Amino acid sequence: MAECPGPEMVRPSVLLCLALVCVCAAFGQAAPDADAVRARGCASSDSDAALTIRPDDPRWPAFVAWAEDRRLLTWRLLGFRAGAGVSLVWAAGTEWEAQVTLPMGQALGHLIAERNWRDVDFPEFFAERGGVYGINLAERLAMLDPGSPAPWQAFFDSLADTRLSARVSAIAPDGQSAEVSFGSGRVVTYSAERLWLDLSSFLTDCHIAEFLQTHDQSGQPDPPSPASEPGPEPTAAAPGQAVYERQCSGCHGIRGDGQGMFAAHLSPRSRDFTQARFRYRSTPTGQLPTDEDVYRSVAHGLAGSGMPAFQAFLSPADIRDVVTYIKRFSARFERDPAPRPLALPDPPAVSAERIARGAQLYEDSGCTSCHGDTGKGDGRSGQDLKTSEGEPITPRDLTDKWRFRGGFSAQAVFQRLMTGMDGSSMASYSDALTEDQTWDLVFYVLELSPQDRPQARDTTPHSGGLDGNT
Ligand code: HEC
Ligand code: HEC
Repeated sequence: MAECPGPEMVRPSVLLCLALVCVCAAFGQAAPDADAVRARGCASSDSDAALTIRPDDPRWPAFVAWAEDRRLLTWRLLGFRAGAGVSLVWAAGTEWEAQVTLPMGQALGHLIAERNWRDVDFPEFFAERGGVYGINLAERLAMLDPGSPAPWQAFFDSLADTRLSARVSAIAPDGQSAEVSFGSGRVVTYSAERLWLDLSSFLTDCHIAEFLQTHDQSGQPDPPSPASEPGPEPTAAAPGQAVYERQCSGCHGIRGDGQGMFAAHLSPRSRDFTQARFRYRSTPTGQLPTDEDVYRSVAHGLAGSGMPAFQAFLSPADIRDVVTYIKRFSARFERDPAPRPLALPDPPAVSAERIARGAQLYEDSGCTSCHGDTGKGDGRSGQDLKTSEGEPITPRDLTDKWRFRGGFSAQAVFQRLMTGMDGSSMASYSDALTEDQTWDLVFYVLELSPQDRPQARDTTPHSGGLDGNT
């Protein structure tokens, strides 16, 4: 997939640069893939190398219908390409046929948010790899070999003969939403913005010249050309911006407000970075995280949520850059004093006495009111909780430590209790508990989970599972 071109790549034409930078900035989507099959003889270096017709264009509904008529709105899975993403062929068998590689962040948005693929949907694949836990596919594959894309390769190779495919099966009259059907009959609704993202991954104005000509002749007003309007001065892309827009914006939104196009499918929702409230920190409550804190969340992901572990797909340098980039979404990172981590001592030896004292503290400190007597997360006050953004949130099930998002080492849990989880209802206990008491409580919390992670018993694939041949 081509990068959104930086100004230096298109210096000969500042106007083209403006047009592409606008489109890229608005949708976080790259211009069509330079490697793609050059359908209809259009080269991606042409001056109309972008799809300028957009969902707010009066011709959009007619355009989508035109594209559907020509069987452009179909795709088939080709496979996984380490270091690049997931390859698809669009409009197979037509003169527009093109191969496109989705960056992993977008592919994950599709697989684990829109499609809700879980390990239980692929019992055969995981049977020889330790079984299934009822968790999302990205989390399960990351467990096999953290930091390596190899499990993804194996997974996609195992799908190789299924020829997964999809097509747009219905379009709302105003073109503002479409139903996409997969082989098994499963249907996912796409917003117009989502459809644009897909279409613009392989179509440019050159490819749709036939449509544009008829519509201009039939008296439709020409849309204002982005190139002819004064746009923002092209500025050098900030470090991490391209990575953010390709890998993160689908969930976190191009402006970092958590409103990406996959966000509606995610529970919990993706974080709004403009609020600068981070939960997995080493710093006191109310303070910003350190770069290392954010790095950890991006590299290792947040278990039990839709936040993937990017260490298998991005280099350490890319992760550092994207961490720098997301700090631009809140002025607090410039204004506030540099965050200072709380001390994180080595854990003392665990003992039966400590666990017993921890059990008492669990009651006395009010953990039961939210997490419940047995830790299942079913306490009375825990039922109608909301995050600071007003999203419903449930207390963590403490009997399943594998789903602790900040990790389940004694030190990680100690840190959560000390720092609190800002923006959720999980407060900091650094004033209420001494260091020694905190360790007692940590050891008790870790005792609430069984020795071994329980396997999911129901392995019937759910409706979002593998789609058959089409
Ligand atoms: C498939 C959707 C998805 C993608 C792609 C994604 N995220 Fe997230 N992210 C989430 C969700 C969901 C949460 C919230 C999890 C929670 O509240 O427990 C989150 C939370 C976070 C957090 C919050 C950590 C904290 O301390 O509160 C950071 C930082 C983050 N994401 C960074 C990124 C970066 C950087 C990228 C791109 C490299 C990215 N995310 C891509 C879904 C996504
Ligand atoms: C007011 C309700 C409330 C109380 C009281 C409360 N918690 Fe929580 N706790 C939560 C919520 C909500 C979450 C989930 C936050 C999230 O998902 O972002 C949570 C998350 C956690 C986590 C998971 C951390 C992770 O990495 O995922 C642990 C461990 C935890 N709480 C332990 C405790 C302990 C021990 C106490 C008592 C000292 C306590 N909680 C008191 C609401 C509460």
